[in-house]
Amino acid sequence: MSARLTHALETGALALPEGRISVFAPAPDMDLSALDPERVEVISRFYPDVEAWQARGYRVLQAPEGHYQTAIVALPRAKDAARALIAQAAACCDLLVVDGQKTDGIATILKAMKTIAPPEGTLAKAHGKVFWLAAPDLTAWAGGPRTVDGFVTRPGVFSADGPDKGSLALVDALPDLSGHVVDLGAGWGFLDRRILASDKVMTLDIVEADLTALDCARENVTDPRARFHWADATRFKPDTLVDAVVTNPPFHVGRAGDPALGRAFLDQAARILKPGGQLWVVANRHLPYEDRLAEVFRDVDKVGGTPGFKVLKAAKPMRSKG
Ligand SMILES: C[S@@+](CC[C@H](N)C(=O)[O-])C[C@H]1O[C@@H](n2cnc3c(N)ncnc32)[C@H](O)[C@@H]1O
Repeated sequence: MSARLTHALETGALALPEGRISVFAPAPDMDLSALDPERVEVISRFYPDVEAWQARGYRVLQAPEGHYQTAIVALPRAKDAARALIAQAAACCDLLVVDGQKTDGIATILKAMKTIAPPEGTLAKAHGKVFWLAAPDLTAWAGGPRTVDGFVTRPGVFSADGPDKGSLALVDALPDLSGHVVDLGAGWGFLDRRILASDKVMTLDIVEADLTALDCARENVTDPRARFHWADATRFKPDTLVDAVVTNPPFHVGRAGDPALGRAFLDQAARILKPGGQLWVVANRHLPYEDRLAEVFRDVDKVGGTPGFKVLKAAKPMRSKG
């Protein structure tokens, strides 16, 4: 829980009713200790967060089940995703609590909420705000799927407005692959249609941590050679070593930029490739991936890109990092 929310509860400014509490999309480092864990259900669709909350003993669901006396929303940064999440929470609770950082747009959400229903309480602290109110009807905020360039996306998924520039650069440089291919961090499946355009591809493992994005990928990629995995790509193990890994790795953990996550994707690619297998990766030019690639692959080449992105191909994985 944020310092604000803890403060609001401990000072009595915010009194929660008896009964079930749902906490929507809390970051794994959030402190929920001011809440009775027996009453709390965490609602999360991001696989590593789900694992982290389960390891701490919480009941974790991917969508709310039934009615809650209180729903607490940890505000995500993407505006459409924030509204959709708040609408989902409001639809299943009596008391709605929204907690967020200034940098994640809490002031904008609070302003928008005031045009619908005035909050009963607001508290500003620690670079953010928390507000609460009897849950209003927010169906107008519920986000639905949309179609961009022939692909279904949903609020909050990576690059929901259309293909990412890096992914476009990767597709331009990608040859027809063959055999068993893995897409690590596949999002809503943009790269996968391109990979499956090669009839030499026998199997494609589509690996994604965000269940909403993976659900979009299932709609976007209907080819029977595709298999879908809701999993942490940094630990994903296919049933056998594979011929190719394709990835546009994430460079954020939660809200903070972190090239270590991208490097963990590269390490895992080296672990799951056959000795003759190849990794195809795109990255922002400023990301320091070549050094890491040189530690886990014998051959690394720059094979394409744009002014903003580089496409790298790596071959001959070294097992020692395994
Ligand atoms: C830069 S996006 C690329 C998405 C897609 N491949 C594309 O090109 O449009 C990176 C993706 O990795 C996912 N991701 C982040 N951390 C992950 C993890 N630990 N395991 C699997 N996927 C993860 C994100 O949800 C996001 O969809």
